[in-house]
Amino acid sequence: MHFEESFMNFILHHQERHDRTYHFLILMDALISAAKHIQYYYLTGALKGNLGLAGEVNVQGEDVMRMDQIAHEITIHYLRSSGRVIHAVSEEAEEIIEMDTKGGRYFVYFDPLDGSSNVSHGLPVGFLFGIAKRNLDGPEDGHLRAGKEYRAAGMFVIPTGTFTIALLDSGAWRFHIDETMSFVKPLRVMLPENSKTWELSFNEANRYTFSKRVQAWIAEKERKYAFRYLGALAGDFHRILSNGGMFLYPAIVNHPKPEKNRPHGKLRLMYEAAVVAFMCREAGGDAVDEIGTPILEIQPENQHQRTALYVGSKPLVDEIAQILQT
Ligand code: AHG
Ligand code: MN
Ligand code: MN
Repeated sequence: MHFEESFMNFILHHQERHDRTYHFLILMDALISAAKHIQYYYLTGALKGNLGLAGEVNVQGEDVMRMDQIAHEITIHYLRSSGRVIHAVSEEAEEIIEMDTKGGRYFVYFDPLDGSSNVSHGLPVGFLFGIAKRNLDGPEDGHLRAGKEYRAAGMFVIPTGTFTIALLDSGAWRFHIDETMSFVKPLRVMLPENSKTWELSFNEANRYTFSKRVQAWIAEKERKYAFRYLGALAGDFHRILSNGGMFLYPAIVNHPKPEKNRPHGKLRLMYEAAVVAFMCREAGGDAVDEIGTPILEIQPENQHQRTALYVGSKPLVDEIAQILQT
């Protein structure tokens, strides 16, 4: 019989190789449990009446499906009971959620259900997270960490059973769920250098609301690359990590109704943009915002702040960054 290496085993060896404690394993176990539990609710959603709009509004003023809240509650439960988290930031909670301010070691920033408009269609959604660590040697002020201070970042694509995690300076790794619901078979993910498979991913309906220079760049590139858009960052970025190319959610600056402009784009810095930027860097790529600033350098001022995002293969990100910086 042949057994694949499990994710927990992989992390155990990683920690031991780097002479680290097992606290991170406990945190990862909590995130894995949360992801499986969210997947269970997703798969049984129709039966349990959990699909569809609940008529509620989330903290960003957008529609929220009940699945968002369920996924949030599940994640909070596991993070809190791990005893390893100082505080958490969730897309579904306006305030920072305090947990173990004394015994905790980590800060966790998460989007419990990314791409929620896919839920009622039975299409893939994501669970995105970034992890930073307390300063163990000096005074701890608990500030919100920039992406460059993350120690790990990852995403589950639900219900496809894939899990990709990037560990600081140790690469991006993809796992698949097996018949026993374990994530197994680590595969190193590196963006392909050959542009043959590269894709572009953005909401085409927004195209003419982008700045003129971004529109011009798209016009120049569009015939070269395939175009794919699922409407869930986790799923769209999953493809980019394998095939290369770029996912972009630019600033909306030319909307026919100026009140609908979004000069900071739509995506959230701490639990969407910085998460994929961290993974992308470990896979050999990069990510910038609307003025070409590396996403990982942005110091958050608010846990829910938004940022435009250009993430993917380095040559493309470098090219757009140069255009955006001028
Ligand atoms: P969420 O469901 O967590 O609010 O995130 C949705 C985000 C992201 O996943 C996706 O890339 C983007 O919204 C799609 O936005 P548009 O529908 O404007 O393209
Ligand atoms: Mn999201
Ligand atoms: Mn969400």
